[in-house]
Formats: sequence, C-alpha cells, structure tokens
Amino acid sequence: MSGPLVRAEGLTVAFPGRDGPRPAVDGVSLVLERGQSLVIAGESGSGKSLLCRTLLGIQPETAAVSGRLEWKGRSLIGLTEAEWRPLRGGSIAMVFQDPTAALNPLLTVGRQIMDAVRAHRRCSGAEARARAIEVLGLAGLPEPERRLASYPFELSGGMRQRVAIALALSAGPELIIADEATTNLDVSIQAQIVNLLIRLRRELGLALIFVTHDLDLAAEVGGELMVIYAGQPVETGEVRQVLADPCHPYTRGLLRSAPTLRSTRAEPLRPIPGQAPRLGTVGAGAPFRDRCSVVVEGLCALRRPGWTEAGPGHRVACHRFARDGRAGLP
Ligand SMILES: Nc1ncnc2c1ncn2[C@@H]1O[C@H](COP(=O)(O)OP(=O)(O)O)[C@@H](O)[C@H]1O
Ligand SMILES: [Mg+2]
Repeated sequence: MSGPLVRAEGLTVAFPGRDGPRPAVDGVSLVLERGQSLVIAGESGSGKSLLCRTLLGIQPETAAVSGRLEWKGRSLIGLTEAEWRPLRGGSIAMVFQDPTAALNPLLTVGRQIMDAVRAHRRCSGAEARARAIEVLGLAGLPEPERRLASYPFELSGGMRQRVAIALALSAGPELIIADEATTNLDVSIQAQIVNLLIRLRRELGLALIFVTHDLDLAAEVGGELMVIYAGQPVETGEVRQVLADPCHPYTRGLLRSAPTLRSTRAEPLRPIPGQAPRLGTVGAGAPFRDRCSVVVEGLCALRRPGWTEAGPGHRVACHRFARDGRAGLP
C-alpha cells in the first residue's frame, strides 16, 4: 500500500477549562513513512505523552481530539473500542518510561508475551511459545528460552525494558512508540536500549516514534525531529541538521541548557529562564514569547507564527526568524 503510515494535520487535544478548551497538543501536523523514525523532543509538560496516547486512542476521556489523524489513510478520530483493538498493540505498539507498569508482576514473562501474541492472532500454545522466544531474542534477552519462566521482579531495569519491548513486538507491529523509554535507566543501559530500537527499526523495517527530552539521544536515533513547546511544534527537520543549525530560540535554549556530548566548547550550562506556560494560557501568540529574549514587539504577543524554511526540509515557527533569519537569533 502507498502513502504514509501516520498523518496528522492540525491535531489538537484539549482539556475542558473554565474559559473554554485548553489545548495540550495544539495544531500538530506530521507525516511518518514506513520504516522511518520521528523524534519528538520538548520539556516535561509539552504534550509529548498526550500526543503518543492519542495515536493509540488511550488519551484521557476528558480530552477532546480534533483535526486530522490517520493511519494508512484511515481516520483514527472517533474509532470505537472494537475498531481500536487490532490497531493498539497489533499495528501500533507503545513502550513506556516505566517497564514495571507495562508488565504484570504476578505472571511470568513467557505467559505475558504468549497472551499478547494470542490476543492478536489465532495460534497454538506451541506457536505462541515459539513466538515469545523469538521476540525475546529480538529484544536482545540472552537465553530467551530460559527467560520465559522469569518473573519481572527477577530482572534488572534494563532487562525489564527489553521484556516490555519484546511484548510490544509480539503482534508484529509496524510502528513502535517509545515514550521516554530510556529515561529511568542508567546511561549505559540507556544507550543499549536506544541501539536496540534503532536496530529493530532497521532490521524489521519498523517505524519508530521516539519521545525524549534529551537531544543527545535524539541525535543517536536520527531521522526526523519535531521540537514541541506548549503542545505546538516549533521546529522540524532532519535531526542532525536541526541540532547542527537550530533556528528556533527554544531549540537553541534547550541545547544550551543540556549537558551535551557534542558541546566541545567549555560553555556553562544555561537553563532557559522562566517556566513553560500553564495549560490554556498561550492563546494566539507565539507559545515561547514569555521566555524568549528576541520577541518581535507587536507580533509575538498577538499572532501564532507560521512556518519559515530554514533549509531543505527544515522549518521553524518563529516571527523573529521569519523577519531576520539567523542574524536575529539569540
Ligand atoms: N487528564 C488530564 N487532565 C488535564 N490535563 C492533563 C491531563 N493529562 C495531561 N494533562 C496536561 O497535558 C499537558 C501535557 O502533558 P504530557 O503529555 O504528559 O506532557 P509530556 O509528556 O511532554 O511531559 C500537561 O500540561 C498536563 O498537565
Ligand atoms: Mg511524558
């Protein structure tokens, strides 16, 4: 089949507020092709998890979804639970920050994976067992056959996350969404899990949405990057290109605030001053205006910036950049 796996246009997810809907995901457009990766980066509270959950139809019940969201050209908005079931965990699987939440502490690893296999396809116990061993192997668990009898508590954090990834692979998905899947792990384990996801994308042809607040990890994963602030995409493009030439004041602030492997300069870390806006307070202006050192008077407070090309496939939503280009950047 042709066409992208996922397409969103003006996707908005809003919670009810006293003065009307409060968008937490605000006008997100994206296209994800088969086998490609998309990194979504932004500070805590920027709407990353809510966006991922909406792609799986597991957003909170109070959240109102509007705009367009399609899987292989078919709208995902307003699907019934019965329509979601084959997609969720079948075509689209998610790996969460906390593997213990994804695993049942009372069941063996083998049992959980075999149940997941059989939830999506008719097969014998022996076939489900063979598939469980296969996905544990794909997820890089040593001696996968012996792991079938393990309980989650018997495994290290990194191994548990590998089991969660095996579980995600069990029904043969086409897209894996990893929401801060490495955030709670030691740095060395983090790199192993990121490498595993990269390898699975390459070897199984999976599409990957990788959510992180860590731009070094974003660079490792590669592919497209979407930097999101207060629910709004502010800069998109090929990851390494954006990180080499960040053109939105927020992206630049993020890079300066993070201890980064790429920074060879002995520059001190500079946190972005101020705080992300409270839900529903951004209104029509540029979302970053209250923390931005280069606001355009009379424009940023009033009008949401449209996209400006910064290079091939590299776009920035910033009034200052639209007016002054790189010369105007902080
Ligand atoms: N059930 C809910 N009710 C109201 N607001 C919510 C709910 N869930 C999330 N939010 C709000 O949505 C915004 C985005 O949250 P989230 O997607 O978890 O951010 P991130 O994953 O980027 O840290 C936050 O402002 C959060 O307070
Ligand atoms: Mg989150």
